[in-house]
Amino acid sequence: MRIAIGNDHVAVELKNIITDHLKGLGHEVVNYGTDSTERFDYPVPGYRVGRAVASGEADLGVLICGTGVGISLAANKVRGVRAAVCSEPYSARLSREHNDTNVLAFGARVVGPELAKMIVDAWLGAGFEGGRHARRVAMLAEIEETQRLAAAEESPGGSAFWYR
Ligand code: RB5
Repeated sequence: MRIAIGNDHVAVELKNIITDHLKGLGHEVVNYGTDSTERFDYPVPGYRVGRAVASGEADLGVLICGTGVGISLAANKVRGVRAAVCSEPYSARLSREHNDTNVLAFGARVVGPELAKMIVDAWLGAGFEGGRHARRVAMLAEIEETQRLAAAEESPGGSAFWYR
């Protein structure tokens, strides 16, 4: 598989470890991140990897910053990207099976190298289950494309409700 990887300045070391791990598994890895510890704002690699995945240049993307949060937010702004921050393998696997994530993010300040490899392996080893999940993922795309969600407007439970 062709995997786009991106990172900011706090995640250079972990990016290198994960790149070697992915190559060891036989994947082609394209680096959209920084190799320097000089400040490199996370929206840049997040956007670059998001674009690479959304355009089909890459099959999947892996993003690493301090927490994984900022860089995943940037990627998720690119149409067609479904990025999730996962700090353990269970969520990583389910994010593929249920949410069809095409970008995985995690934090170099949150997970160590061995856990990060387990997260990556769980994610790559899983596949989208489709079925009822396909309908929900299509709803995500509907929000992205139209800034609306018909199901939320039609459903009685969709109106504002305040707990008192
Ligand atoms: C950089 O200090 C830090 O903000 C960044 O790596 C990331 O954690 C943002 O979400």
